[in-house]
Amino acid sequence: MSRVFSGIQPTGEPHIGNYFGAMQNYVKLGQDYGKNSIYCVVDLHALTNPNAFDPALLAQRTLDMAVANFAVGLDPAQVTFFVQSQVPEHQELSWVLTNITPVGELERMTQYKDKAGQLESVPAGLLMYPVLMAADILLYKADTVPVGEDQTQHIELTREIARKFNHTFGETFPEPRAVNNKQALRIPGVDGHGKMSKSKGEQSTIGLFEPLDSIWAKLRVAPTDPARVRRTDPGDPDVCLVGDYHKLFSDDQTLRTVYDGCRSAGIGCVDCKKLLMTGIEEHLSPIQARGEALRADLDSVRDALAQGTREARAIAAPVMEEVRSKVGF
Ligand code: ADP
Ligand code: NA
Repeated sequence: MSRVFSGIQPTGEPHIGNYFGAMQNYVKLGQDYGKNSIYCVVDLHALTNPNAFDPALLAQRTLDMAVANFAVGLDPAQVTFFVQSQVPEHQELSWVLTNITPVGELERMTQYKDKAGQLESVPAGLLMYPVLMAADILLYKADTVPVGEDQTQHIELTREIARKFNHTFGETFPEPRAVNNKQALRIPGVDGHGKMSKSKGEQSTIGLFEPLDSIWAKLRVAPTDPARVRRTDPGDPDVCLVGDYHKLFSDDQTLRTVYDGCRSAGIGCVDCKKLLMTGIEEHLSPIQARGEALRADLDSVRDALAQGTREARAIAAPVMEEVRSKVGF
């Protein structure tokens, strides 16, 4: 049987890059896989960042991330959605896998090198991060992992760990494969400086729950095709982040209007941005309204997470039992 797993870090407000790059895929796969699509807010992973050493904030962000995913259309009654720390088997399997994973492999991970390079003292958890991620996936014998392309290397390591376990202790785990949204691999930041990312700060992101006037304030000054200096110069929408965003937010007719208009100088950048705002408003308003309704009823969100924990453990506990007996515990 085929299963989907993905972990979501509780790291502050999600943005439209997270939405088109990952969350939309969760919703789509949820419709096909139902309870066999398993999504987990990975608060254990968040602890690898010292900024998460704030109990009230971590709890708040964990709940916020559940709200965000439910608000974009993930239905906890349809899929399996829970919080990682509530299912202790993740840590138990992680320890077993730690012992079949070479330190050298972990030290080679690009994300580890990036993050460790910025720290004076590197917590061991940061090195072990991909092992815990492998445990998350293998604990459910998942074969399909929807993630952004930045996670490809970790999925490859998960496959190696699965092979090593199967070879050492007997056939147990499938080798999972990553799937990503080809249309939204790398959504640019609204400040024009590379990929949209929370780590670059608020000037880079358009938040899913950001007020529309705040979004417009960023969009109004966002850089467009630098070759289009005067209103009468034709532009190239394919080298413009506003053009990129139109592909995500606008219907076919609007898309034709702005693409043809840009190339013929028939439409100016400000009007093009205003048309984009219409699409953004259409997309985000219902999400923001659902988010508000969920935040007004957090008890129902907590109930859904508690139910998700029971569903996840019902799958995880027998797999862990199988691992224990294979290892000799
Ligand atoms: P961030 O880079 O903002 O910290 P995360 O690392 O929490 O975001 O990523 C959560 C998910 O969103 C991952 O699957 C990641 O690949 C995807 N993602 C993040 N930023 C973008 C982007 N700019 N374009 C497409 N997908 C993205
Ligand atoms: Na990232």
